[in-house]
Amino acid sequence: MTRLGRFVVAGLPALVLALGGAARAGTPPAFSQRCAVCHQPNATGIPGIYPPLAGTVGRYLRVSQGRSYLVHLLLFGMNGPILSQGTRYEGLMPSASDFSNEELAAAINYVLEEFNARQLPRDFKPITAAEFQAARGTNLTQAEVLREREQLFSALEKTARNGNGR
Ligand code: HEC
Repeated sequence: MTRLGRFVVAGLPALVLALGGAARAGTPPAFSQRCAVCHQPNATGIPGIYPPLAGTVGRYLRVSQGRSYLVHLLLFGMNGPILSQGTRYEGLMPSASDFSNEELAAAINYVLEEFNARQLPRDFKPITAAEFQAARGTNLTQAEVLREREQLFSALEKTARNGNGR
């Protein structure tokens, strides 16, 4: 670890206290201001209420629909029952489309790289602002995004059965 790294880690509790737990240095504003309020600053969620993002969503990128599901989810939200690591959630994920494409890309890449690094496919490329821009016009409903999640899970199961999963 670099000297700076040690300083940041050692100083973290004081910094978090000083900011009232608001943000860590380097955390994208959209994540700390919005996502962390429900999914928590460490992305572990709250069991039964807000699903975890840590260690769950990285594997979605092993199939092509994973990227578009995450982009659509942030732009349009999602509503309806889901299972995450065996726990049932039935809440409302609100649209975050009031943030810019760049801010949304930074937030989701932070979730993927900071909390899902081990699950990401080896050829992972960060999600771009252009992908958010291109999807804005599609205006999916929150129920349609839920269906995309179901299709994504079928595709992931198929990949695992074919032995292509990691
Ligand atoms: C008001 C609370 C709230 C906020 C703010 C919020 N979410 Fe969510 N999020 C939820 C809920 C509730 C669900 C589950 C929705 C369902 O059950 O259909 C969810 C689902 C998700 C999922 C899907 C997880 C999975 O297993 O497929 C991801 C990814 C996600 N949120 C990321 C984010 C990001 C990134 C942000 C910030 C831009 C954010 N959320 C902001 C409440 C929130």
